[in-house]
Amino acid sequence: MKFFKRSVDVQQKAKELMPLGVNSNFRYWGEGITPYVERGKGCYLWDVDGNRYIDYRMAFGPIILGHADERVDQLVHAEIDKGVLFAMTNEMEISVAEMMIAMCPAVEMVRFACSGTEATMHAIRVARAYTGRDVILKFEGAYHGFHDYTLWSTYAPAESYGNINSPIPVAASSGIPSAIRDLVITLPFNNFEVLEKTLRSHGHQIAAIIAEPCLCNCGAIEPQPGFLKFIQDKCEEYGIIFILDEVKTGFRVANGGAHELYNLQPDLVTYAKSLGNGYPIAAFGGRKEVMSVIGHGVAQGGTFNNNRPGVAAAYATLQILQNEPVLKTVAERGARLMRGLQSIFDEAGIPVCMNGYPSMFSFAIGIEKPTDQRSWSRSDKDFYLRLMDESIQRGVMPDHDPREPWFLCQAHTDEIIDETLNIWRDVVKEK
Ligand SMILES: Cc1ncc(COP(=O)(O)O)c(C=O)c1O
Repeated sequence: MKFFKRSVDVQQKAKELMPLGVNSNFRYWGEGITPYVERGKGCYLWDVDGNRYIDYRMAFGPIILGHADERVDQLVHAEIDKGVLFAMTNEMEISVAEMMIAMCPAVEMVRFACSGTEATMHAIRVARAYTGRDVILKFEGAYHGFHDYTLWSTYAPAESYGNINSPIPVAASSGIPSAIRDLVITLPFNNFEVLEKTLRSHGHQIAAIIAEPCLCNCGAIEPQPGFLKFIQDKCEEYGIIFILDEVKTGFRVANGGAHELYNLQPDLVTYAKSLGNGYPIAAFGGRKEVMSVIGHGVAQGGTFNNNRPGVAAAYATLQILQNEPVLKTVAERGARLMRGLQSIFDEAGIPVCMNGYPSMFSFAIGIEKPTDQRSWSRSDKDFYLRLMDESIQRGVMPDHDPREPWFLCQAHTDEIIDETLNIWRDVVKEK
């Protein structure tokens, strides 16, 4: 792509120094088509070629207010002048814990971490310790971070998952010990019968069911009515810990996250992303009784867990969310964008179904509304990619990968949504 001229040069150099020239496999889009970023402000980002984009990636979700949000950055700047790390607790992190507990109905106690991967890893250990069991149940297409315990049946072709009634866990990477296969059960999302049957035979060996409320890393496939509550009830019946992974939904779909939205009471909840508007902070929390195993024979910690920039960013972000109807506004604008895109596709006679939440949505082309990764994988992903390439060339940047939803932030105004829709009319016409 000619408008990525400098990005191409940067990629050549970066490839010599870092595998694929990036620091996360997801950031590699291919040779000559991987953008390298210069800066961001509000809902915009600029690449190293000086191209400006309306950003709908929002760093894969964390940016809920906007890039370089002054309200957050001012507090961070003031705080970091006092020193950033002491391996000692400061009062601001206690205030952040207090705010999280006030906002999130299922959270009675929290511990901080630095990434979503760490949050889910710690939550799984707590669940195993609390139950005295080892097996984890997760859903196909769900992503819970890069650790070995849950990197199963995430991105593999759905055909490799075996029969729907007896799915095969497929490791998403070489280097994951095959012994872990015995500790993980993978099931199709939204399938009440298979879950019920599996629990009848294995329920008493399972420490935790870990679920994203919606498959936010697989085209934003929504839960069927009652499915999450069904998981919760079954967990109670079998003495299993229900871990709701709100790394993407937390502080994005509602102040109290998806568990508030669906009126759920999971045992543990994991957070990262929007908690700090882009700064490195994550958390997991939940029932006091379950969290209280930590420190009583159960290890949890991390040098950077209470890093000052992350804690200050969380403090500022949560204050803004508590004091202003940010998520309501973001949802209204997202709904406007979803409606607009749907009517552009309808006019063009392109069959799409919109999925997810207004603040984090996607669309699948050429299929009925998907309920699991298996049905979603039949969507026209090549066409989706072509649309994204055209969109990016025209200055609107959702992720090119159909698994990754479009994310909105407070800085996406109505005017920007309308500008996006005008560009997308041409994108769709062109394709
Ligand atoms: C639902 C979910 N859980 C966990 C993670 C891992 O978070 P991190 O990338 O901060 O390690 C992600 C990241 O996208 C996620 O979407």
